Amino acid sequence: MKLWNGRFSDPTHPEVEKFTSSIEVDRRLYLYDLLGSIAHAEMLEKIGILSEGEKERILEALREIKEEIENGSFQFSERLEDIHMHIEARLIEKTGETGKKIHTGRSRNDQVSLDMRMYLKDELKRIEEELLELMKTILNRAEKEKDAIMPGYTHMQRAQAVPFSHYLLSFYYMLKRDRERVINAINSADSMPLGSGALAGSTLPLEREFLRERLNFSRITDNSMDTASDRDFVIDALYAVSMIMIHLSRMCEDLIIFSTEEFSFIKLPDSLVTGSSIMPQKRNPDVLELIRGRTSRVIGDFLSLLILMKGLPSTYNRDLQEDKEPLFHALDVTRASLSIIRLCVKEMEINRERMEEALERGYIQATEIAEYLVRKGMPFREAHRVVGRIIRECENRAIKMKDIKIDQLKSFSELFDEDVYQFMDPRNIVKMRKTAGGASVEEVVNQIERERLYLRS
Ligand code: ARG
Repeated sequence: MKLWNGRFSDPTHPEVEKFTSSIEVDRRLYLYDLLGSIAHAEMLEKIGILSEGEKERILEALREIKEEIENGSFQFSERLEDIHMHIEARLIEKTGETGKKIHTGRSRNDQVSLDMRMYLKDELKRIEEELLELMKTILNRAEKEKDAIMPGYTHMQRAQAVPFSHYLLSFYYMLKRDRERVINAINSADSMPLGSGALAGSTLPLEREFLRERLNFSRITDNSMDTASDRDFVIDALYAVSMIMIHLSRMCEDLIIFSTEEFSFIKLPDSLVTGSSIMPQKRNPDVLELIRGRTSRVIGDFLSLLILMKGLPSTYNRDLQEDKEPLFHALDVTRASLSIIRLCVKEMEINRERMEEALERGYIQATEIAEYLVRKGMPFREAHRVVGRIIRECENRAIKMKDIKIDQLKSFSELFDEDVYQFMDPRNIVKMRKTAGGASVEEVVNQIERERLYLRS
């Protein structure tokens, strides 16, 4: 029996029922739908639409429905379309005439908005917690490895020596910005829509402030027509998690490269890699690849919402039902990815010798030698050219820069002195950097201390 079939003379075609149904997707909102109905029933009693006895019967039935859904005895059916209809129909089955009053002053349009907002507030909170856990793990790992040094890369070419910990912290700061985006998205979902009705509010004296307080929102939505189709809060959430995934995906890409035989900077333990069905020697970083791969789907989820909203006529249109699958998918993937990458950061082995070996080649100290000449008064552009010529000479003679003798250096510039050799050693270089936020061990130590305070607050 449909709840809306008063004006229909023919039953819905079964294919239409199947086609329009969303119950398989939106059933996971059941708890929020029930909480919304409880608050709504209490509000209806407060304004005299339900007697106290009626309200009690409704609350009792809603509690039973929760139990039925959770113990698996609740009957779901395509014929009842979505979770809102299922719960209301079951309530009416249980309480008869009384249950028929629950939908007073309410529409599925404001109901679905409420459920999604409540779901998002909870789920984003969980994602924020996962983010904080990962940030903490990165800090711990950076602290543990603070003296390890490696080449930093630009264009995937060896560029300058950096502490490995500084490299790790670069992801910490991406995630810190992600946290701000997650907090913004929670705030954006934090407006209570009930009372907006289908699109126009109601002639009944619904108490929206009462609902707001009961349902733990910080404000109520401002315009009933806007409320019916506002999905900005969904888009804000999808933007926030897309950025998280983009950051994780970039980190995965690095770790995949760093774990190749060619680099061997890091190694994932056996418990975190998978084998090949044909090549016995393989240890594949599948989890990292899957995060990178699933990121594309999460970005797709974000884009699908943007496209869904573009050109949507004012207020509710059924297109909006399609918002849930991408949202649920994106949030599930993000939470799982945050958790698994944390394991990788915690458990990966670092090969310090390999990192240092990589510093031996590639004239990694070239920029610092140029800065040495600048200190002695040479204009930087000139210093750049002098060091370039020294590198060409080293290449011709197949020697390392640190092995070039002082007399030869002097033939490139009179400004060179014995003290230049301290700038040849990457270990010294990462100690001598002065810039705030720069790649020095000192700065890493300060940042770890600062960020521990941030995480504690
Ligand atoms: N299942 C619908 C959705 O998820 C609920 C709202 C339906 N409203 C309507 N007027 N048909 O968007």
